[in-house]
Amino acid sequence: MKGLILSGGKGTRLRPLTYTSAKQLVPVANKPVLFFGIESIVAAGITEIGIIVGDTKDEIRAAVGDGSQFGARCTYIEQEAPLGLAHAVKIAKDFLQDDPFVMYLGDNLIAGGIRSLVDEFRESTANAQILLAEVANPQQFGVAELSADGTMVKKLEEKPPQPKTNLALVGVYMFDKTIWESVERIEPSARGELEITDAIQDLIDRGLEVHPHKVRGWWKDTGKLADMLEANRIMLDSADLHRQHSEVGTHSRIEGRVQLGENVTLVNSLVRGPSVIGDDVRLENVFVGPYSSIGNRCVLSSCEIENSIILADSEIADLPARVDGSLVGRGVKIRRSDAKPKAYRFMLGDNSEVSVG
Ligand code: G1P
Repeated sequence: MKGLILSGGKGTRLRPLTYTSAKQLVPVANKPVLFFGIESIVAAGITEIGIIVGDTKDEIRAAVGDGSQFGARCTYIEQEAPLGLAHAVKIAKDFLQDDPFVMYLGDNLIAGGIRSLVDEFRESTANAQILLAEVANPQQFGVAELSADGTMVKKLEEKPPQPKTNLALVGVYMFDKTIWESVERIEPSARGELEITDAIQDLIDRGLEVHPHKVRGWWKDTGKLADMLEANRIMLDSADLHRQHSEVGTHSRIEGRVQLGENVTLVNSLVRGPSVIGDDVRLENVFVGPYSSIGNRCVLSSCEIENSIILADSEIADLPARVDGSLVGRGVKIRRSDAKPKAYRFMLGDNSEVSVG
């Protein structure tokens, strides 16, 4: 079996971070979302992985490389524009050939990995297997209807205004070679994309077997801020956090499960887990509260941070109130200033969001 990871797209819901960075590389628990996907494919015994890339191809390639860091061999496949998931499958044909494959959307996270699902597909007679999760907002996803006994998928609709069920398509799909005919037969949807949902419906219409698998554990499509923060919390809760070679000075404390990177300096600070602190970070007179991920080379002083993701090379200093529920990009500087007049001074990218309280 082969793997196909989709890592193109524009990430509009995570702007401004995604003006300069691929959405799949935004980290949770200090690890790019995409890496969790690659790791779960490898853990399922699949090492030949094609990665569909778009505008952010250079950055994705720089982060993932040839895949050897994951024990995989990665092949990059360029998609000239985000023309849909079924389009991505189409352009991967030379790479996939007639092998069965698992397709994984690079911004999705699934607790517990996909190994048992891949095994289930390998051992079944299914031509395709889709993952489904019960959600409160099915209008925002592909939605499935099942046969009365729940063993077959009967109908799929992409983002229906009036969903018939609350079963959303999770971004992991398994196919055999029968998908090739279906991706050729479908037409672009109203949003101008070749939808994988339509291609799977075409399999059903051709009388082929599409098996559902309900995801019992946690699953997240990390396109939005609230989802990123939730993913960060869940990953920190389940991660195996361990301390590396950093000294905690006498006036500082670590409470709970905290991962400290190398060369972290703590001065008069308290870090409460679950949290991860990257390499070469300096914390002085700081409280880092539960569910925080602080990237490499950040410098924090006289501030409190909780339930937040701070990317590498950022500086936060002298804030009178706690930072909570925040996603801060790379190289950002947030500080209190005594300059007159006493005022808020911002230099923010397009689509930034600031709340002061
Ligand atoms: C895509 C699929 C949708 C699926 C979702 C899961 O939506 O088209 O069927 O439910 O991924 O993340 P998109 O993220 O392209 O809006």
